[in-house]
Amino acid sequence: MAHPPHETRFDRLRVLVHATSVGAESAVAAAIAATLRDERPVVLGLATGRTQVGVYRELVGRHARGEVSFRRATTFNLDEYWPLAPTHRGSFRRFMEERLFAHVDLPSGRGHVPDGEAEDAAVECARYESLLAAAGGVDLQLLGVGRNGHLGFNEPGSARTSRTRLVPLTASTRDANRADFAPDAVPERALTMGLGTILEARRIVALAVGDGKAESIERALRTPVTEEVPASLLRTHPDATLHLDAAAAARVL
Ligand code: GLP
Repeated sequence: MAHPPHETRFDRLRVLVHATSVGAESAVAAAIAATLRDERPVVLGLATGRTQVGVYRELVGRHARGEVSFRRATTFNLDEYWPLAPTHRGSFRRFMEERLFAHVDLPSGRGHVPDGEAEDAAVECARYESLLAAAGGVDLQLLGVGRNGHLGFNEPGSARTSRTRLVPLTASTRDANRADFAPDAVPERALTMGLGTILEARRIVALAVGDGKAESIERALRTPVTEEVPASLLRTHPDATLHLDAAAAARVL
């Protein structure tokens, strides 16, 4: 039996430190699975990034074993590069299809990702917000944390009241995601749910693993809450949990 995670709090944010990244990923998958087991429609906010690969792998495994069903779920992803075709290997739509949607029973048309091919980004962002509102808002929002403390593609300095919109990406974010693109072809912009959109989720489950995240986690937890470190805003949410492995937590314990 694995050790129970070390639990602490930073303001309102519950922080659980697991011994290993697999432990942290399993705990996040278990939280999502528990929400899906509720006998009612559920709206999930989903995230991409290397951090979430293990979470989706575990959910796909649970589904294959008959432990979890997405049939009552509707999902909304945080973000997508713009402009970008959904078939591009860097596309978050493609990531979701390959890592999750193709392997579970989510009804077709109920896995939403901002449209990277939309001609008019502003129209697409407004459409996404109204779709989300019509679904009743997000019950559980899954989040990763960028190396610079971003949430979704809300880079440092994003307003805490921001909504889904077109944003420029920082050099650090473009660099972190370079592997998915041809040299010099990393998109410069993206569509992202805003910090206001994200923080309206009734419950947030965030995940950060590995020593590459230790510094951004330290800033998110130790600086005064500030829009300069979007992840620090998680400390203001009434029901948010941040799962870390020991490496990501190394500078805060
Ligand atoms: C990406 C995504 C974020 C993600 C973050 C971390 O650019 N837009 O939603 O949380 O950066 O990515 P990774 O998990 O690969 O470190």
